[in-house]
Amino acid sequence: MPGIFEYTVSKLQSLTLHYFRNIDQANLTFSSGLNLIIGDNAAGKTSLIEAIWVLSTGRSFRTAKPAHLINADHPNFTLFSEVTQTNQTYKMGLKRSIEKSLCKINGEVVPSQADMAERLPVQLLTPESHRLLEDGPKVRRQFLDWGCFHASADFIQHWRGYQRALKQRNQALKKRLPQNQTQIWDVQLVDLAAKIDAIRQAYVLKLTPFVVKFCKALMPEMAEQVDLGYRAGWPQASDSFAALLAQNYGKDAKQGFTQYGCHRADIRFKFAGTEAMLKLSRGQQKLFVCALLLAQASLYEQESQEQVIMLIDDLPAELDEQHRLTLLTLLQDLNIQHIISTTSQSLIANLNPDTASFFDINQGNVSAK
Ligand SMILES: Nc1ncnc2c1ncn2[C@@H]1O[C@H](COP(=O)(O)OP(=O)(O)OP(=O)(O)O)[C@@H](O)[C@H]1O
Ligand SMILES: [Mg+2]
Repeated sequence: MPGIFEYTVSKLQSLTLHYFRNIDQANLTFSSGLNLIIGDNAAGKTSLIEAIWVLSTGRSFRTAKPAHLINADHPNFTLFSEVTQTNQTYKMGLKRSIEKSLCKINGEVVPSQADMAERLPVQLLTPESHRLLEDGPKVRRQFLDWGCFHASADFIQHWRGYQRALKQRNQALKKRLPQNQTQIWDVQLVDLAAKIDAIRQAYVLKLTPFVVKFCKALMPEMAEQVDLGYRAGWPQASDSFAALLAQNYGKDAKQGFTQYGCHRADIRFKFAGTEAMLKLSRGQQKLFVCALLLAQASLYEQESQEQVIMLIDDLPAELDEQHRLTLLTLLQDLNIQHIISTTSQSLIANLNPDTASFFDINQGNVSAK
């Protein structure tokens, strides 16, 4: 019986796949702690991790084309899962053909993928994750907005409204419509930019102590130096975003797009004043990304009393033995369900056999060990 301070946290109970990449059919029942997927190269490990990510987000982290996800001999794939959240179990399904995508929760069609992401909050660490530090702002904006989406019920509405207004303004600029027909979108853009900016700023402020905490755990030698710098997407020295949009109209019209705004926001990570990418070794970069994800996971738990589900593709490729152990210990202590792939079981410590499950995957065939 749960104690007075315990509560039921969100967990992925099971996953069923049909015709997803090289997996014709599979059914996995997960444990609440470690879930280890073990297989050789090309067995289908990343595909399994990807399937959970796709069910939550509607997108792959490997390809922009749904056709790549669908088994060559079948017109569509289906994913089905049971997820527990706040003492309730949700049956979540996704059916996807090249043209169409259909999401259902408890048998009812849901209009938006955001409903799926809310019920199945997943975080992802892959061998590509250090790109969070190396790539352009888009990937960091996605990191930031993951947190804002889960932290504020209004964020998605504001963000959608902003994207719509921006699209209209950019279309007007491209078509060289008269100035008043372009600037008609500015009021909405300015209003929503202020709301989005406030949520993002508040989120970075709340996240920072958690980032320091997990840097201390994973890379203590650097923890004191870390700094998160949020950039709104327009120069803060300007009088106001509204005035800046008006001042910049001529330039925007020439270029055919809106230069400044929330769509240009970024979050920069510095260590003692130098960009993380320039200061940290590749291994430290990976550890720092782990610290960022754990920070988000902990803040998410603090705000929602729910847990994220952590997906880690090819953990041994990410971290050395000692840091693998530190990460696994943190995940266990934080009570975060983790689904991890590896080519060799011996590389992953089983810290709590009571909450662990193991799966073999071989040429797309999954079996529980
Ligand atoms: N749409 C598809 N239909 C059928 N097979 C596919 C499809 N897409 C990819 N595959 C194949 O699925 C196999 C599994 O790929 P996956 O990337 O999941 O393997 P992996 O176990 O992660 O391998 P590695 O250890 O090398 O990362 C590969 O042989 C790949 O060519
Ligand atoms: Mg792989």
